Amino acid sequence: MTIHESAIVILGASGDLTKRKLLPALARLFKTGKLTQSSIIIGSGRTDFDDEGFRNRFDVPEDVKQILFYHSGIKGLKNYISKKGSFTRVIFFFALPPSVYVTTARELSEEGFGNEARLIIEKPFGYDFESAQTINNALHKYYDESQLFRIDHYLAKEAIQNILVFRFANALFDPIWNSRYIEEIQINACERIGVENRGAYFDKSGIIRDMIQNHLVQLMCLLTMEPPVSLNAEDIRLQKINILKVIDYTECKRFQYNGYRDEPGVASDSTTETYAELKLYINNFRWINMPIYIRAGKALNRKGTEIGIKFKALPRLLFNKHGEIKQNRIIFKIQPTEGIILDLSGKIPGSDFQITETKMKFCYRDHFGSEIEGAYEKLLLDALEGDRTLFVSSEETELSWQKIGSLLDTGTLRFYDQGKIPIELTLTDWLDFEKYENSCQ
Ligand code: NDP
Ligand code: BG6
Repeated sequence: MTIHESAIVILGASGDLTKRKLLPALARLFKTGKLTQSSIIIGSGRTDFDDEGFRNRFDVPEDVKQILFYHSGIKGLKNYISKKGSFTRVIFFFALPPSVYVTTARELSEEGFGNEARLIIEKPFGYDFESAQTINNALHKYYDESQLFRIDHYLAKEAIQNILVFRFANALFDPIWNSRYIEEIQINACERIGVENRGAYFDKSGIIRDMIQNHLVQLMCLLTMEPPVSLNAEDIRLQKINILKVIDYTECKRFQYNGYRDEPGVASDSTTETYAELKLYINNFRWINMPIYIRAGKALNRKGTEIGIKFKALPRLLFNKHGEIKQNRIIFKIQPTEGIILDLSGKIPGSDFQITETKMKFCYRDHFGSEIEGAYEKLLLDALEGDRTLFVSSEETELSWQKIGSLLDTGTLRFYDQGKIPIELTLTDWLDFEKYENSCQ
């Protein structure tokens, strides 16, 4: 897919996201020929830059700099763009604080950007159910839902998209993808880094709002939803909604790392959690009575996002009379390396039936090399094409907030040392994802 004649406007272009993620992603699209000289990228914001000063902020090739411009503020932007040429699409990337989403949408509408405009909106989308609903209602005053692209960059990760292919293109797994055969699911998102320079934002958010309500709940929906009737955005959305409606959170443990309160921007008496464990059930026919654990945190012992599917044990008749054999597992390694690992039992060569754990592995690097398209590249391309499959609808956002609402900011807060992972919530054995760390290097 190649993008022609588009004006890509980044609002809040002096910020961190633009520098670290957006410009590098646009530069990669340019390098691979998916973005051409027929399009332009305009940075916008309250800060005053001339084109040269703005371009010099980024380490991107000269030919990308040639299509990069800066315009201060939104007033006059329509005229500015039309002087640069005629563009079939105008897309606005809100690299802005959420508090200004609504006023910015109003200003764009007043400036005359109507049906041709598309708005890409970053997370966090609200702070809770009420605020998400307020933002949605206000945005809908100016723009139709079909023009709004709410980003959840986890949906664009290759290994997460592959979950749909794994589930719906392999006859092997579909019959056992339910609580009759699966004992539990664990979803894990560990980060080694703390809050770094984002303390002021994070302290008002916490890990449940920052990672779980959006990225990990979306991931869980893809893992557990019914097959959609097609791969179009609306059909997938319907199935995700059906999961969101029946989520029942039953437990939540909140923790904070020691030293967090000394981070810049963090309140000295902060009760914000930096690590959380949630237990939930999906109360539908497929998943009834099967627990799902979600864990996410910062300043932990490692960086890794994984999903573990643990299958029930077979009857202990021929083998495993004393429960000595590990139950089958499927591990989806989402990052930093991508792969799928199937834990099996096998016979040790020799005369008697001695059993050992073995693995079958599918590692992305072995099959596709190490060049995997980044999430932001894919999201920018899809938004320009108008493909909403990887974006989150207003209904999904609101339902997700509604269900998780009762867990926010409540319960005892406990503490952990940086570099440790304080596992507490687990009924059976905690799946030690670290064991799989070197499986797909
Ligand atoms: P920054 O604070 O670095 O930059 C945001 C920019 O928005 C500022 O440079 C500023 O530009 C503009 N801005 C700030 N306050 C206002 C205001 N009151 N009114 C109008 N404009 C304002 O934020 P980030 O770039 O880090 O993040 C942008 C968005 O992306 C946020 O919603 C964030 O949550 C989200 N996000 C960021 C990630 C990241 O890695 N940084 C990751 C995922 C999401 P100027 O002063 O020139 O107007
Ligand atoms: C962002 C969160 O949405 O995702 C960050 O705001 C987090 O706190 C980041 O670090 C993790 O993204 P990734 O792609 O590195 O897993």
